Amino acid sequence: MLTERALESMPGPARRRVQDVLDAMKVATRVENKKVLVDLASSVARGLLLKEGKQGEPVGMRASHDAWFDFRYQGDYPEMYDLYRRAVQNQWDGDRQLDWSTDVDPRNPEKPVFPIELVPMEGLAAHGIHLTRDEQMKFVHDFSSWLLSQFMHGEQGALYASAQVTESVRWVDGKFYGATQVMDEARHLEVFLRYLESKLGKLYQVNDNLFTILDALMRDSRWDMKFLGMQIMVEGLALGAFSMMYQATREPLLKEMLRYVIQDEARHVHYGVLALKRHFAELSPAELREREDWTFEVACLMRNRFLAHEIYDEWFGAHLKRAEWDRIMGESPFMTQFRQTMFKRLVPNLEYIGIFSPRIRGHYDKVGLTKYAGGRNASELTAEDLLVA
Ligand SMILES: [Fe+2]
Ligand SMILES: [Fe+2]
Repeated sequence: MLTERALESMPGPARRRVQDVLDAMKVATRVENKKVLVDLASSVARGLLLKEGKQGEPVGMRASHDAWFDFRYQGDYPEMYDLYRRAVQNQWDGDRQLDWSTDVDPRNPEKPVFPIELVPMEGLAAHGIHLTRDEQMKFVHDFSSWLLSQFMHGEQGALYASAQVTESVRWVDGKFYGATQVMDEARHLEVFLRYLESKLGKLYQVNDNLFTILDALMRDSRWDMKFLGMQIMVEGLALGAFSMMYQATREPLLKEMLRYVIQDEARHVHYGVLALKRHFAELSPAELREREDWTFEVACLMRNRFLAHEIYDEWFGAHLKRAEWDRIMGESPFMTQFRQTMFKRLVPNLEYIGIFSPRIRGHYDKVGLTKYAGGRNASELTAEDLLVA
């Protein structure tokens, strides 16, 4: 194994390349379930090693699921049909209902997009890095753009995943609902992109860990894995993140935009837990175990996504080792609260759908992600609950 000193002696680009290989190896050696490893291996290679999301070209992800028709048209899941009706009634128009004339200055400390506590000042100071006030606001601007860019990339993934799920789910009521989600996700992608382009003026490339997750769930042929990856993991965590961002921002346009998006996302996660609770009740112990293991790996990738390596490369790549940056981000009070808010929504949902056995709980304990086990799941939460989370 390469020592840190050997890594340090390498020129920047080579060092980053070796670090990427080591990250991919860490994923490979941690995964105990070999079937899960096989499922994830090519996505890990495409995301972490080949960095296909960062090549500046459109990326193909070959889908392999079946589209299911049902020509009987029998109401088969009334709760899902209710969600569909609610979704139809609550459609909104980001162009008309958001005030795009709002003057946003991402470096204005009076109305910050995100608070200045976003800067891990203590952690950086411990390594002799002290940012001036102007640099701090620039950092907040960049980090906010990075964070919102990643959620925007997630929205693009949600758009295609919900389209796939609409085809591949077998309940007709699920197809009705899925179609509304496709529209919702297009609108989310539209408003995030517009906000980033016209108000923050900066877009970041997709994070490698997020790309890996999107690639894995888009190419999996099993509809429930798409649900699990998108509705429960990506959207469940995004919902927690949006709630915290809604609380934290002082910028009125972003706040209003998040309020609308949270209302839609609450329905999406609700749809995911309804579908999977019913489906998982019919799976064998081996199938459930595979889903538990897969979910845990995706949770680890999600956690790593928020280490913000794109920001590290841009700001501190020449001054800090990446392991030091990872520690700083791991210990930063803002990011700690951010991770906790995200994951507290996840664990109750995993419990509710039946993939949080004592065996897998031990794995989550080890990486510190079980702090909020036992809270309310998505079928018990309203959008209003999420706005005050
Ligand atoms: Fe969305
Ligand atoms: Fe969504």
